[in-house]
Amino acid sequence: MHLIERTAWKALEAHARDTADVAILDLFAEDPHRAASFSIEACGMLFDYSKNPLSAETLRRLFALAQDAGVPAQINAMFDGRRINITEKRAVLHTALRNRSNRQILVGAEDVMPGIHAMLQRMRGMADRIREGIARGATGRTFTDVVNIGIGGSDLGPLMVTTALRPYASKTLRAHFVSNVDGAHLAATLSGLNPETTLFIISSKTFTTQETLVNARSARQWLLTKLAGTVPAEVIVEHHFAAVSTNLDATAEFGIIPERVFGFWEWVGGRYSVWSAIGLPVALAIGFDRFEEFLSGACQMDEHFRTTPLERNLPVLAALIGIWHIDFLDHRTQAVLPYAQDLVHLPAFLQQLDMESNGKRVDRSGAPVNYLTGPVIWGAPGTNGQHAFFQHLHQGTQITPADFIVAVHPADDMPGHHDILLANCIAQTEALLRGKNVDEVHAELAAREMQGEEVQRLAPHRIFPGNRPSNTIILDRLDPNSLGALIAFYEHKVFVQGAIWNINSFDQWGVELGKQLAGDILQDLTAGQVSDRHDPSTRMLIRHVLQRSKQQK
Ligand code: F6P
Repeated sequence: MHLIERTAWKALEAHARDTADVAILDLFAEDPHRAASFSIEACGMLFDYSKNPLSAETLRRLFALAQDAGVPAQINAMFDGRRINITEKRAVLHTALRNRSNRQILVGAEDVMPGIHAMLQRMRGMADRIREGIARGATGRTFTDVVNIGIGGSDLGPLMVTTALRPYASKTLRAHFVSNVDGAHLAATLSGLNPETTLFIISSKTFTTQETLVNARSARQWLLTKLAGTVPAEVIVEHHFAAVSTNLDATAEFGIIPERVFGFWEWVGGRYSVWSAIGLPVALAIGFDRFEEFLSGACQMDEHFRTTPLERNLPVLAALIGIWHIDFLDHRTQAVLPYAQDLVHLPAFLQQLDMESNGKRVDRSGAPVNYLTGPVIWGAPGTNGQHAFFQHLHQGTQITPADFIVAVHPADDMPGHHDILLANCIAQTEALLRGKNVDEVHAELAAREMQGEEVQRLAPHRIFPGNRPSNTIILDRLDPNSLGALIAFYEHKVFVQGAIWNINSFDQWGVELGKQLAGDILQDLTAGQVSDRHDPSTRMLIRHVLQRSKQQK
């Protein structure tokens, strides 16, 4: 039976119709304990979901939907290593990478934990040797810079985490991230670097990704040119390159020695891979002990997710609130608003996590779905966003549920800053909820000695409808442990939504067509002629580029 024909789904549709006129402030008025009962403190975070248009009855119906969709069994299936990625016939076991207990985790008959421990040991060895200056460049100099070359999950995770943990990072070993095939990215990064003291990590699960291989080859060429005449080429590559990949033949062909190659497993999806050796740049930046704290934070969230009843389960609640917004209130986008400059890359990271996982249009049986699935995720750090797109959040015609994220304690000793940051974050959630009505606007204008027609003319522009939903997540501080928990929270939220929508959250076929066509167009550009297999617009664009590039030669 289709999801929307199920009783639990229909009950929610009816409930959405019945409660369409209930304002969130009415819900607070009805229940004096709402703030306490619609918030949870666990795994080092306070999750306040009281500023959403839902009541205890709404939640009851959402939990019924989760039960009906078999969410508890699906959670177990993931943790138990069942092959839930059905199109690729793979288990989904990023949780095993941060399993800090002695629990065995089997894929088929094989316990994956010994392999994971061995990989973590090797990561520690590499991180320690580089950080302590024991492993050095080909000319004997200590490394000062690490450049991670990767894209998608092989970039966004380590980039986001390394940036988020800036206060914990080494001051003498700087991390850089190159992802875009636009040569400007690599050129701008290399321009400030000394080849003798630069280590490259080529991160690619498949080691076939065009952007990464092009950047890796150019980086190798840069190094070989700059260090020509010092030591033999293979010694340069041996000392200055490491790789993280499942494709060991390709890393060997590139010239990376086996001791510098870190494997991982097909059951780690790219966007879930920062916990594997893809996190090597993080470990190099913050040290391996801190990296383990990061894993531990995620492990705490895993245990919470695995063992807590749905009603008190943080990722489950976040997922159900999201489903309520998307499928029953037609709120199709979701803003992520970290009030932490160090979380500047969190929205982009969550874009890949959520949109690559749940941007799906067929269910697990391959039938088209007739309900909305993954939302559009977007956002930027506060307070910057307040001076850019918050206008739309407060007075636009579309309602965008927003996640506000902030830490009680600042990362830096900058007197006077952090209270302002906190005040702004909390104030925005209040403003979205409360709004400002016509009487308040009139009173405000009257206080400015405005009267009559001028008041009537201006008032509509200054009214805030309010009743706009948000979640607030408050961490004690942004540190490796809390960041690990925060990322795992979002991973599991995405998982639960995919489980309810009955889609496969773990493949990404939607990225393939563009890659194939880019190959065809590259052939045309190289040959200098337009093939007639393209549509008229595409032919015109290729022709334009070919003509203009000839003119400028
Ligand atoms: O094209 C999408 C994608 O496959 C992502 O899922 C992945 O994170 C990224 O490309 C990079 O892939 P790889 O690590 O194999 O280079």
